[in-house]
Amino acid sequence: MTKTWDFNFIFEGKRDECLLNSLFLLDMIHAKHLHKYFGDLHVLDDVGLHIQEKEIVSIVGASGAGKTTLLQILGTLDFPSSGELYLKGQNIYKLSKRELTRFRNEHIGFVFQFHQLLPEFTAMENVCIPAFIRNTPKKQAERKAQELLEFLGLSDRISHKPSELSGGEQQRVAVARALINDPEIILADEPSGNLDSESAENLHRLFFKLRAEFGQTFVIVTHNEELAEMVDRKLTMVDGKIH
Ligand SMILES: Nc1ncnc2c1ncn2[C@@H]1O[C@H](COP(=O)(O)OP(=O)(O)OP(=O)(O)O)[C@@H](O)[C@H]1O
Ligand SMILES: [Mg+2]
Repeated sequence: MTKTWDFNFIFEGKRDECLLNSLFLLDMIHAKHLHKYFGDLHVLDDVGLHIQEKEIVSIVGASGAGKTTLLQILGTLDFPSSGELYLKGQNIYKLSKRELTRFRNEHIGFVFQFHQLLPEFTAMENVCIPAFIRNTPKKQAERKAQELLEFLGLSDRISHKPSELSGGEQQRVAVARALINDPEIILADEPSGNLDSESAENLHRLFFKLRAEFGQTFVIVTHNEELAEMVDRKLTMVDGKIH
């Protein structure tokens, strides 16, 4: 009898937690009326987005639809021709150049299709770079990099350079580099586009494992059907509009 009551109590607690979460979950990314023109080309056409804390969202769409352009703008690497962007509630276009650089470095991690690791540096050194940019002491950065590389199953590849790693391993190093500063937002552009199907599947599983472990928000541009369907929400871009 007592056991049943205990169980119900736990269940009720969980339900309340879910209710609270759905009421108070923070909008991690909120974009309003984004337009982007490259000359006469209208690449983003009134894009609006709400992405909540801990959501994993995919963006799919034909080549040239505007996916990378949108991701670059959400990541503050590029600016819209007009529109507003709020990340963690912060009105991004109110920040000075220096504040914006700092915001990006602290809160956003990027994973690209071609991982863009620096060839002359080891896995460990590549992962540490964003931490050094943030002036994290060397020992502390290396300890964190070591933990991340171990978490990603790369403990025996730490001193290897990118040319000595497989494509999947290089991509995991890039994921570790994206995570070193504990960003809440991870933006990934075709992260598995360059990988064989097994490595791609492993990488996709990793995103969910990371979310479960560290609670980040993910926006993933992908052509990979399986990944696009696995996520919490799939957005489709057609001619610069989100559907
Ligand atoms: N810097 C730029 N200058 C001019 N045109 C650009 C620039 N960047 C992108 N474009 C154009 O904007 C459109 C959208 O490009 P974008 O890279 O966002 O597409 P995408 O959806 O990511 O495509 P893909 O799936 O091929 O990566 C394309 O027509 C592209 O040629
Ligand atoms: Mg693209």
